[in-house]
Amino acid sequence: MKFSKFFFGTDYYPEHWPEERWSEDAKLMKAAGFNIVRLAEFAWAKIETREGHFNFDWLDRAIDILAELDIQIVLGTPTASPPPWLMAKDGELFIVKENGVRLGYGNRREYCPNHPLYHQHTERIVTQMAERYKDHPAVIGWQIDNEFGARCFCDICRGEFHKWLQTRYANLDEVNEKWGTIFWGHVYGEWSQIPVPVQLGYHPMDSSPNPGLALDYFRFMSDVYVTYQDLQMNILREKCPKHFITHNFMGFKYKNLNYFDLAKNLDFVSWDNYARMQWTMDADVDPSNAALNHDAMRGLKKQNFWVMEQQSGPGGWEHVAAATKPGELRLWAYQGIAHGADGIIFFRWRTCRFGTEQYWHGVLNHHGIPGRRYEEIARMGAEISLIGEQINGAVMKPAVAIMQSYDARFAFQIQQVNPKLHYEQQIGDIYKAFHTQNIGVDIVSEKDRLSGYKLVIVPLMYVLSEETITNLERFAEKGGMVVLTGLTGVKNLHNAVVNMKLPGLAAKMSGIEVEEYLSLPEYEENEIKFSHVTLDGNYPVPIWADVLSLQQGQPIGHYSKDFIADQPAASLNEFGKGKVLYLGALGNYEYYKDIAQWLVNLAGIESPIAAPDGVEVTVRWKGNRRLLFILNHTQQEHNIHLENSYSNVLNGEIIHETVGIPPFGVLILSD
Ligand code: GLA
Ligand code: ZN
Repeated sequence: MKFSKFFFGTDYYPEHWPEERWSEDAKLMKAAGFNIVRLAEFAWAKIETREGHFNFDWLDRAIDILAELDIQIVLGTPTASPPPWLMAKDGELFIVKENGVRLGYGNRREYCPNHPLYHQHTERIVTQMAERYKDHPAVIGWQIDNEFGARCFCDICRGEFHKWLQTRYANLDEVNEKWGTIFWGHVYGEWSQIPVPVQLGYHPMDSSPNPGLALDYFRFMSDVYVTYQDLQMNILREKCPKHFITHNFMGFKYKNLNYFDLAKNLDFVSWDNYARMQWTMDADVDPSNAALNHDAMRGLKKQNFWVMEQQSGPGGWEHVAAATKPGELRLWAYQGIAHGADGIIFFRWRTCRFGTEQYWHGVLNHHGIPGRRYEEIARMGAEISLIGEQINGAVMKPAVAIMQSYDARFAFQIQQVNPKLHYEQQIGDIYKAFHTQNIGVDIVSEKDRLSGYKLVIVPLMYVLSEETITNLERFAEKGGMVVLTGLTGVKNLHNAVVNMKLPGLAAKMSGIEVEEYLSLPEYEENEIKFSHVTLDGNYPVPIWADVLSLQQGQPIGHYSKDFIADQPAASLNEFGKGKVLYLGALGNYEYYKDIAQWLVNLAGIESPIAAPDGVEVTVRWKGNRRLLFILNHTQQEHNIHLENSYSNVLNGEIIHETVGIPPFGVLILSD
């Protein structure tokens, strides 16, 4: 989706403050350069005060005050947090958690996404809001619900799961066969006998459900939220054809929903970006985390995105997180833009005095008087009003893709395989290996077209389908370079182990077979020693070691410890016009970094300019115009050496050879 301008604004809760304050807020927002505000996503109880009694007057007045200053509005449908009167109607409206316990009232996201009564009330509130605001000139779009998630394991969901299964399997015999229910004699004779994977084992070790059933339940619950989102979307599309529709996603780390599916019908993806979270109390922010999140969110639709909630101060529920240092808020917001954001909305406007999030700091402190954070964001607002048009809609064109798979992510939640193995951490380390070299990366799905890339990394493709392998083979045949890792091709689509030598379907393109694998225990590591001319060195192998037998290609690394010493750990194969690297050993960031450096050279990929450690560089293209974003994530000033002259987009100056970048500073250059 293309927008007429760059959007810059804040998430605002006028319902938390006396009405006399609203116009002061609007004036301060305007002065900060804000042109958009998100409203109402938790305001159901204030809009529908009793069943069927709607009060929009307050919201009308809040919108009008903002609209008068040319601030536009995204409305949230308020279904993430239902009013008490609704939840009091039926105890079964509450979600049953994975441990079998039913939630009660008092938080949010407590509703069962399959409950018919919840659907009825959802339809009513969404219809009412859509009717009310469909023609309001200031309202331009909708955010559906808020951060979908929370899997439910109740009886209603169980019934819906049975129906879902019946649309995917010809009959029960097929289910029994694919899941292997003969194990422990679970052969189902009626659909209604099929359980949901609640943790009901007698002993914690007994809680592990049938892997085939559990994977289908993940897919089912993901589909449930897509369907629930569609229910709202259909109403909004019909009533408000001029408005955009989005949802605020939770970045790369969230792993319970298939985000590619959730993104599909939306106009664009938006997401909530908190670089320094209250619960980590972590003063050092690794910029590659947010970068991965941005790239993963851009990857959901291969399209620019918005940050619907951008950190505006220290987070905090029970603790107050470390302060955001001067320059960090602006830097983190620009980092989103550097990765393809066409809208940045700060969460939240003013720090709330009450409620669970009274320490989640906004642009303003509790007292409402502008201070350091407001000034910093307002400075950025002034910059955006100058340069917004130049950056809006500019696209990224990375040469490297990392493939992520929700099937694999679901399956690894069912069986972790090794207690030290974390899929998200592995992807994070591999991503960081490219990010620290300032090599742009797209995060793609198994189904995406790969033809534009030079290098595609496919980590831990644990559940592997014929389609995925065909996609990868085609890419390699035409000259692409593919990297596969240990724990690839282990499972079929029903989460059963394949009846082949590993890496199963990937054996052909990689030219190897896995003779055996070692899952490394807490107290033991192996080691890989590379022996390729341009890649050498030893690296620890702490988690997993595939021992390879080469059918084709050349070994480029061997294990050096224990009984697998001297056996092949990594290989490079020619496939069609391309190359396939198989890394049998899983490792950590340092390992992936050196491999990435080697691969980038091999594939002829270059970083846009040389930059010191901690200085991030990305490229966006507006037509033929190249925009370089240079972000200093360190607390030191740095000099950047340039080979050509550039214009500094933020102040119009021409820069030759060297330019200084202050601590937490941002430069935008164009050639
Ligand atoms: C999420 C939610 C917000 C708020 C923030 C801060 O991103 O969408 O409503 O709760 O976290 O906790
Ligand atoms: Zn349910």
